[in-house]
Amino acid sequence: MTNTLLILPGDGIGPEVMAEVSRIIDWFGDKRGLKFDVSEDLVGGAAYDVHGVPLADATMARAQEVDAVLLGAVGGPKYDNLDFSVKPERGLLRLRKEMDLFANLRPAQCFDALADFSSLKRDVVAGLDIMIVRELTSGIYFGEPRGIFEENGERVGINTQRYTESEIDRVARSAFELARKRGNKVCSMEKANVMESGILWREVVQRVHDADYPDVELSHMYADAGGMQLCRWPKQFDVIVTDNLFGDLLSDVAAMLTGSLGMLPSASLGAPMANGRPKALYEPVHGSAPDIAGQGKANPIACILSFAMALRYSFDQGEEATRLEQAVEKVLADGVRTADLMQSEGTTPASTAQMGDAILAALDASL
Ligand code: IPM
Ligand code: MG
Repeated sequence: MTNTLLILPGDGIGPEVMAEVSRIIDWFGDKRGLKFDVSEDLVGGAAYDVHGVPLADATMARAQEVDAVLLGAVGGPKYDNLDFSVKPERGLLRLRKEMDLFANLRPAQCFDALADFSSLKRDVVAGLDIMIVRELTSGIYFGEPRGIFEENGERVGINTQRYTESEIDRVARSAFELARKRGNKVCSMEKANVMESGILWREVVQRVHDADYPDVELSHMYADAGGMQLCRWPKQFDVIVTDNLFGDLLSDVAAMLTGSLGMLPSASLGAPMANGRPKALYEPVHGSAPDIAGQGKANPIACILSFAMALRYSFDQGEEATRLEQAVEKVLADGVRTADLMQSEGTTPASTAQMGDAILAALDASL
């Protein structure tokens, strides 16, 4: 089977961090015989500059065909005043929606070498390894009606939270399946105390559990309390499953627990394609960081670890994914640090490319 990849570097630091991923991809081709058929295209502001839209139809079509899409980041101040419909973020949202990537996997893992970066105490976060499964194609991000309307002589902004049973069912299954390969625990978060969509969410998650995953430990929590518990004692969680908006918030909270947003990857998965692989898009959790773009300062690790997730979830190369993750861990343990990972001034941080060099060297050493 061929392995096809579409690379969309996007805006800001996206192209710089993706350049390091490209070197890693080549390494797996050269040293591990894992060949990828790679194409590259534009997304976000970069696509807008050329096509007048943040994602061209041809790019969308290509994304539907490939085994995996790797995305850098989108957005930047240059595009802040664009019409809502062509903002860079709309390119990303179109990919998620049209590829039907309903399960967004956001691991929050605390690397031992970085435990002191967290704003929380070391023993609260050291060894932390949780996985947030965020529903990604429905809920208030996409529900209708939406818009800004005129009502009684003033404007009213409307968005709609909406979930069908089947939408809840499928993301719950993704969470239970993942839990079985990890700590076997799922905590589902909603606000069933105030929202009907939350009542339905809780009911369906419980039903899927009782019918098909009774071996997995399931608990439910209101999402606000969940946010609090994430800060109080995050190690109580293994897999958290939640809706699109709560997942957006809670995954940022969880990311910050690890102290290093520049480290966290994500996978967005949909239904299996004809070749059995899921529709998939991989991207770092961090944004386009326009303030440091083009300076070779950005940390490429989140994007590199996103490629590790692609190896695991799209290409069934779990061992090679682990090899790459261990190479990253080794480099951190050796003290290699990009600027975002430096606590004291005075020492010179590694550049984006130097971090890439160090990870490639650690990969070589793993053979
Ligand atoms: C994320 C981001 C996106 C979201 C934006 C860029 C549209 O915050 O992936 O978490 O809100 O989903
Ligand atoms: Mg977000």
